[in-house]
Amino acid sequence: MSRKKVTILDVKDKKEKGEPITMLTAYDYPTGLLVDQAGIDIILVGDSLAMVVLGHENTVAVTMDEMLHHCKAVARGAKYPLLIGDMPFMSYQVDEKEAVRNAGRFLKEGGMDVIKLEGGRDMASTVRAIVDAGIPVMGHIGLTPQTISKLGGYRVQGKDVATAKALLDDAWALESAGAFSLILEAIPSPVAKLITERVSIPTIGIGAGPDCDGQVLVIHDLIGLFDRFVPKFVKKYANIFPAIVEALEGYRDEVIAGTFPGPEHGYSMDDEALQALLKELGE
Ligand code: KIV
Repeated sequence: MSRKKVTILDVKDKKEKGEPITMLTAYDYPTGLLVDQAGIDIILVGDSLAMVVLGHENTVAVTMDEMLHHCKAVARGAKYPLLIGDMPFMSYQVDEKEAVRNAGRFLKEGGMDVIKLEGGRDMASTVRAIVDAGIPVMGHIGLTPQTISKLGGYRVQGKDVATAKALLDDAWALESAGAFSLILEAIPSPVAKLITERVSIPTIGIGAGPDCDGQVLVIHDLIGLFDRFVPKFVKKYANIFPAIVEALEGYRDEVIAGTFPGPEHGYSMDDEALQALLKELGE
């Protein structure tokens, strides 16, 4: 199959044509390669790596340098998907100049095509500044994990009239600020449908029902590699954690039993050379 690199124009085009957009997270060379080979449109190097790769309690702790380190590895493995780098907590909230500088690092150093940041109306002017600097931005509204303390926990957002209307206002503000697309996380399906119909930019849902323009999941959730919890909106397409443990136990047992490595895993030596070596050693 001949493939061409996905651009933001291809993603916008999919919304216009009503074609579903596929997106997954990836965090390193092998997951980048796997998602690329599966023909997914967009890769997000999500700050969820703080939890699923680095073992933190939440996404707050991850730093710019850690994010860039993972972005570089993903970019080495994934050649075709649109690559989006997730701006970590406190890399864009303090002031707009710093936000633009850090956004630029994702493109210059991380090999990303786009950046993502969390927030709605409160972030519109920062989004505008980053877009004006020539960097495409994906917004993220609804459940925004970086502000989990403020939200009071991982819970669905926009369930009543006032909060649902606030989400629409956030979506319009980000669209007007020049965001090229929006993540809608953990919001009621009818609200996500309304937002999707009322903005011209593509919406990508996670826990936001089937009517978004596209869907995203955290790869570790989808393949069953995260040990702690599985959110309600995740579908596990594989369960590789126990499969890996079984393989590792097999290795452990064979090393203990002396059946690994077998002759086929070793390197032979010419008998004459061996005898000469033994002679050299005086044996
Ligand atoms: O960090 C992440 O993986 C995300 C997705 C859940 C959208 O923001």
